[in-house]
Amino acid sequence: MSESTAPATPLYVQTPAATFLRSLAVDRGLARVDLAGSVAHVEMLASVGILAPGEADTILGGLRQIAREIDAVTFPWRDDLEDVHTNLEVRLTELVGPVGGKLHTGRSRNDQVALDERLFLRESVAGVAHALLRLEDALRTRAEAEVATPMPGYTHLQRAQVVSVAHWLLAHWWRFDRDLDRLFATERRADRSPLGAGALAGSTLPLAPDAVARRLGFAGPVENSLDAVSDRDPLAELLFDLSLTAIHASALGEEIVLFAAREFGFVRRTPALGSGSSQMPQKRNPDVAELVRGKSGRTVGDLVALLVTLKGLPLAYDRDLQEDKAPVLDAVATVTEVVEALAGLVAGLVFDREALGVAARDPELYATDRAEDLVRAGRPFREAHAAVAADASGTPPTDPIAALARRSLPGGPAPVAVEVQLRHAEARRAERARSLSSLDRKAGLVEELLKEKTP
Ligand code: ARG
Repeated sequence: MSESTAPATPLYVQTPAATFLRSLAVDRGLARVDLAGSVAHVEMLASVGILAPGEADTILGGLRQIAREIDAVTFPWRDDLEDVHTNLEVRLTELVGPVGGKLHTGRSRNDQVALDERLFLRESVAGVAHALLRLEDALRTRAEAEVATPMPGYTHLQRAQVVSVAHWLLAHWWRFDRDLDRLFATERRADRSPLGAGALAGSTLPLAPDAVARRLGFAGPVENSLDAVSDRDPLAELLFDLSLTAIHASALGEEIVLFAAREFGFVRRTPALGSGSSQMPQKRNPDVAELVRGKSGRTVGDLVALLVTLKGLPLAYDRDLQEDKAPVLDAVATVTEVVEALAGLVAGLVFDREALGVAARDPELYATDRAEDLVRAGRPFREAHAAVAADASGTPPTDPIAALARRSLPGGPAPVAVEVQLRHAEARRAERARSLSSLDRKAGLVEELLKEKTP
């Protein structure tokens, strides 16, 4: 709490419920995007003649000073001022005097917060995408070294047919690649600026929402002002995308937990997996994978919290919408951390090729191969299936590497097919990296707006 005193004229009606209405603890995380939105808004007000050039310069100087204060952690946050928007506006007026009162011209907190959320979404997508690329790189690098390492493939968690460690790792790779695709698509659909919508019905002033939108890197303004202040589809999509990523991460975490158990023994219990037990001296627990799995519940909870908040809200803005930020901020932070931890875990996995080799020599894994050999000799598949099922004992020893090589259809586990898969994955990675660097440039506009010299 700061020691500043309340402003002479409070911005809003004073209510005894003020404490309940507060959102500062959560939304102060949006301060930088909020300031960048204000910079673009002020430049636009000057360009249409609503602000004199000198007034705009003064306000812009104040906004950029506030950005520096936030950077230096010297900003005097005031809990009594409801939310981040009010804190920044009151501080501006403290710094530049009454001209600060012109900042909010033609704007409402309703279009302002909707803008902040879209800017936040943009940088969140970029942040999670960077982490996902690191995870993908770890999966691909590990796969490259294990193309010729056979392992049992499972259905119903029962040994089914032979695959390779590379093929297994890449199966997870494609899931995360679709996650990236979804995140980028979500960002593209959110690429519209709500500013200009005001509280709900625009403004009587000659604003230029299109110019503000472009200045902030958006494709244009939202088409409908009622939609602009109420649409939380981008956040719902983001939370779904993050939930699915968390679920994908948790599925990989689960397999690592299993494979590190002595019952499988495919993954060595190295310190990268986690810590030990406070009581049992022999323990090496796969804590990292477990926590990756565990944090998916909380992320899905965030998605459900937002969806239920949105259900049945009348147009346009309703105060319920204030509850959208906590789940979004939580899910972004959680999933970023999960994906980063998983990337480190995957990079440090040590496969026990010995144990994998023993498991991969299990004759049961080649029962289908034997049935297909009978098919090659002309037997109907149903008969071949029955013949192999009836004669589980008479299995000749199988060389897993040779057996793997026979599964060479596109998308299959044979080394030749996995090499093709790896090349496709690399090409896809290059494409994702290009999308991400253009997103990084757009996300960088926030810092540019806050640093630029007053025009
Ligand atoms: N703290 C509010 C929110 O997050 C800002 C918008 C407030 N608008 C209003 N009409 N009270 O939604």
